Formats: sequence, C-alpha cells, structure tokens
Amino acid sequence: MDTYELIDIALQRFSPKEVATALGVDPKTVRRWHARESEPKPYVADAIRQRLLPFGEPPSGPAAFRFIDLFAGIGGMRIAFEKQGGRCVFTSEWDDYARKTYAANFHDGAEHTFAGDITQVHEDNVPDHDVLLAGFPCQPFSIAGVSKKNALGRPHGFADKTQGTLFFDVARIIAAKQPKAFLLENVKNLISHDKGRTFSTIIDVLRNELGYHVWHKVINGKHFVPQNRERIIIVGFRDPVDFSWENLELPPIESGPKLDSILHREDGTDPAEWHCIEGARGKVTPKYTLSEKLWVYLQNYAAEHRRKGNGFGFGLVSGKDTARTLSARYYKDGSEILIDQGRRKNPRRLTPRECARLMGFEDSFRIPVSDTRAYKQFGNSVVVPVISSVAELMAPLLDVEAERKAA
Ligand SMILES: C[S@@+](CC[C@H](N)C(=O)[O-])C[C@H]1O[C@@H](n2cnc3c(N)ncnc32)[C@H](O)[C@@H]1O
Repeated sequence: MDTYELIDIALQRFSPKEVATALGVDPKTVRRWHARESEPKPYVADAIRQRLLPFGEPPSGPAAFRFIDLFAGIGGMRIAFEKQGGRCVFTSEWDDYARKTYAANFHDGAEHTFAGDITQVHEDNVPDHDVLLAGFPCQPFSIAGVSKKNALGRPHGFADKTQGTLFFDVARIIAAKQPKAFLLENVKNLISHDKGRTFSTIIDVLRNELGYHVWHKVINGKHFVPQNRERIIIVGFRDPVDFSWENLELPPIESGPKLDSILHREDGTDPAEWHCIEGARGKVTPKYTLSEKLWVYLQNYAAEHRRKGNGFGFGLVSGKDTARTLSARYYKDGSEILIDQGRRKNPRRLTPRECARLMGFEDSFRIPVSDTRAYKQFGNSVVVPVISSVAELMAPLLDVEAERKAA
C-alpha cells in the first residue's frame, strides 16, 4: 500500500486536523497530500501506521461473507462476526470518540467505508452485504403520526410507521440491499416500550413488509461474564433457514464467572502500560477509590431511598459476586458497581479496562480515549461473547458460496 492510500485510510477515520496533529504537520499539508498536490516525505507512511492505524495489514483475500456495522459504537458486534470469517465493508457511527476507539482497533482497506450519521447516508451508497448488524437506539414510534399521514393519502408501510426513527434507517437499508440476514440488538425493555407497540411495529415491519423470517430472544450476559445484562437479540433471514434458538450454546448461568475473573490481578501480571494500574504489582491507581464526600453522599442517598421504600441505592460487590448492568452513566458516580476494598478503605469504581473485561472484550482491545468516554462506550456496548454465540449459529446458514456460484 503506498503512502497516498494510507493517507486516504487515515482520513476515513480521522479529521485532517487529527491526522495533522498525529503527524506533526499542518492540516493544509494533509489536505494537499490527500488531493495529490504534494508528495509526502518517506517517513509519513511509517508514522501513519504507528500513530493512526491498528497494527498489521487490512484484511485481504476472500471472506466467508460481507457485513455492515450500523450504530457500531466501538465494534463489539464486529468482533463476533469477524471471528466467523466475515469482512466488514461499511460502518456507521456518528460519535467522534467512539469512532476513535473503533479506528484504533479495526484495520480496514479501501473496500471499507466509515460513515457518520446514518440518517444522512442514502441506501444506494451502502455497499452490498450478506449480513446487517445494528444495535439501534430505541425511540417511540408515533401512532398519531401514522394516522395523520394515512388521512393525507400518503403511502402505507414501514416508511410511514417508522419515519423519523433510527429503526426506519435500518428498515430502508434492509429493503434496498436485501441482505441474507440481520442481527439487531437492543435493551430488554424494547419489548414493553410504549405498551408493546414499538416492538410489535418492529416485528411487523421486519416480517410483513420486508418479508424476513424473524426470531428473537432475551439473552443474559451473565452466561459469559460476571454481569447481569439482559438484551434482546432479533435475528432475521431473507430465505427460509433451519434457525433455532435450541441450538444456541450458552454456558450454564449458575456456574458463570464471578467478578474476580475481571478485576485487576494486582500481582504484576497485567500489562504495565495500562494507566489505571501502577507499581511493580500493578495495583489499581488510587484515583478509582471514591472520595469520602462521594461515598458519604451515596450512603445517605441509599438510606433515604430505603426509608421511602424505593430504589436500589449503590451496588457494593466483591470478587465472589456478579455485577449489576454496567450503564453508559457509570462515569458519573459508579454507584451501580462499587468494589468493596474492606473496612479501612472506601470502595472503588471499576477501571475502564475492568469494564472492557466485564463486556467480554479481550485485553488486546485498545482504549485510546479518556476514562469518561471509555465508561460511556463500554456501557453502551454489547457483551461480545453473547453476540459471538449468535454469530456462530447464523454463519453456517448464510450459504454465501452457493449464492455466488448461482449468480
Ligand atoms: C447502543 S450503542 C451500540 C453499541 C455497539 N453495538 C457496540 O457494541 O459498541 C448505539 C450507538 O449508535 C450511535 N448512533 C446514534 N445515532 C446515530 C446516527 N444517527 N448515526 C450513526 N450512529 C448513531 C451512538 O453514538 C452509539 O454509539
């Protein structure tokens, strides 16, 4: 790959200003390279590889199937489908900080596009793919809006029912690109949202308007990680296939791992370059221990709510326990998961690396953003092994090879 191509890839992931800062040049210089108006010095190729791109080369050669990653966050779903031999050809994520983490962990070649706001991407500009992945944010669908449009004599269908919601963007891409399969992920509450109307609209559109064969299941991350995290997974296939949740292999929940499997070992075996640990033994940095003020506040708040008979208060846990659901708000006070440090020390929050492990990310996953951003990103993410177990069920049913031969 020549330097110009590397510059193009860097600019798909970062702004000209970010590329310029990383390379120690002016943004104008980066723009001139991009426009092929001036030639970069030889060192630029190495600098881009080391400072802006993940290690190694982008994937090449044939892939088992092609997929797209919508509402991608930091790519939890992508990891699972790459493990099945899939190649990601399109990503959409609009949050700059999530994009940064994503770009630091996935290496893409010229056949991959990294888009921002999906509502601004025309479906014709989405490349052909076999599998569509989307952890779309849940929004209410306005029934009133539908009847108003009906009264105006506008066309029926998913466009009317879901227009203005992010599910609409998923539906219009499925309608235009007809992928062989999709996997959608959401919070369990999607089922009861708006008295069940949101969920039944979604299933109705997928089955009756887009014509897919659809299955859904609530899966708890606790099968794989020490966290109670229930999420709904919706799977669809364009053609009739032999899909069954009975074939899903989930390790028994009762013997699932406990928190000590994800906490820093503090015995010197965690990588020394992680900023959340320090010293020869890799002890958790004191900044994660709650200040006296915050700890007193959380205890008083919990006591007040107990008196009123509501609320859960904080969640104090030790290595032998399972955590509550990690939320995107964890950065605020960490109250849902506090690690007990004994009587003489206030509890501490999880470090971002422990959050990564709690979501099933491997230790090689890079965290290039601040702690606050990292907490948000892991709190929004999927439990990777949950998606892997579903991907394992889906991949053999894609039969991509047969379709290519027939074409
Ligand atoms: C629940 S998270 C999905 C996380 C992902 N499944 C993962 O494993 O990291 C939803 C993501 O959608 C992104 N998002 C929301 N609206 C968007 C839009 N209009 N275009 C692109 N991304 C969007 C958010 O920034 C967020 O990262």
